[in-house]
Amino acid sequence: SGGALKCSLPSRPQYIPNHIPDPNYVRIFDTTLRDGEQSPGATMTSNEKLVIARHLSRLGVDIIEAGFPASSPDDLDAVRSIAIEVGNQPVGEDGHVPVICGLARCNKKDIDAAWEAVRHAKKPRVHTFIATSEIHMQHKLRKTREEVVNIAREMVAYARSLGCQDIEFSPEDAGRSDREFLYHVLEEVIKAGATTLNIPDTVGYTLPSEFGKLIADIKANTPGIENAIISTHCQNDLGLATANTLAGAYAGARQLEVTVNGIGERAGNASLEEVVVAMKCRQELLGGLYTRINTKHIVMASKMVAEHTGLHVQPHKAIVGANAFAHESGIHQDGMLKHKGTYEIISPEDIGLSRSSDGRHALRSRLLEFGYDIGGKELDDVFKRFKEVAEKKKRISDEDLEALMSDEIFQP
Ligand code: KIV
Repeated sequence: SGGALKCSLPSRPQYIPNHIPDPNYVRIFDTTLRDGEQSPGATMTSNEKLVIARHLSRLGVDIIEAGFPASSPDDLDAVRSIAIEVGNQPVGEDGHVPVICGLARCNKKDIDAAWEAVRHAKKPRVHTFIATSEIHMQHKLRKTREEVVNIAREMVAYARSLGCQDIEFSPEDAGRSDREFLYHVLEEVIKAGATTLNIPDTVGYTLPSEFGKLIADIKANTPGIENAIISTHCQNDLGLATANTLAGAYAGARQLEVTVNGIGERAGNASLEEVVVAMKCRQELLGGLYTRINTKHIVMASKMVAEHTGLHVQPHKAIVGANAFAHESGIHQDGMLKHKGTYEIISPEDIGLSRSSDGRHALRSRLLEFGYDIGGKELDDVFKRFKEVAEKKKRISDEDLEALMSDEIFQP
């Protein structure tokens, strides 16, 4: 099967920080401007970030992580500008206004900066994090488990005391953290006021079955979890970020953290376009889960991010690579000309690409490569004959095309 995605957008459930009224709805949290910008060489100006944030809003993302305000005065300004403009501007058919989020380590200075930057938005969120794996606590933080839990609890409560009602907490390196300890930290931050619990596979170490189980276990064993949204944040070190993200969604996560073109630290993050299109394409198998991303804006988002970060997309990148819809071999072209579903599981129009080649155009381009430049009635006739031959033969080879054209009527 495969083919056209359902492109009419489902309605977007009302935004309540710690609850999603429709159990199948999955929020898309885009961190292109924060984790994505942490890609080597991807620094963007405030204006570039604003331009991208406007497009992310058009694309329909639920939450835009606009930056890490404590990292520099420029970043604070960029997040503030996005909060003021994009965070108050309704877009799309449903008049959607995205949540604007700022990242903060678990300390008052970072949380003050994040809150100062995002508070101007209609729906502001502070995202605070601290590491919970033994290796990070021992060697990076040099703190005991007890100290880490206390800091996490106190800093979530501190963000709450500033007036922030939408608080995301991430136990960094959750993928390698001790389970019982993880449940305990999460329980404590929920009690302190966290509304989203983001589970990062910080070093992209887990396998899909493992990450899915981690999410399912957190859902089953964390007291108070029904009062929060579980989120995924999968790095791509083993090339598994998209697979892990989908496994997380299937296991109960209702927010997925992604970046456009999959940019991010080291090997990057789960890519927005892969996660969203896979969910649409295989919705049934994923139990009916859906997002509110308008896939027709995907190609534009990809181009903008590539242009502003200078990180070009590899030609064979899924969904947005230049070759993602190119059918090069004779066998594939032949199949495509007979029925698009033979080699195409999504149609380019659904992600905002204009189809440069319907059957006629594909045939014309192929013939041009052989030196035959035909159009109009001539092309119609050849196309008709081509289809007749295609019905009889399983495969049309280059020799068959030559033979078609060698008919005297079509001699160049
Ligand atoms: O990879 C990571 O752990 C992060 C967290 C801050 C969510 O980026």
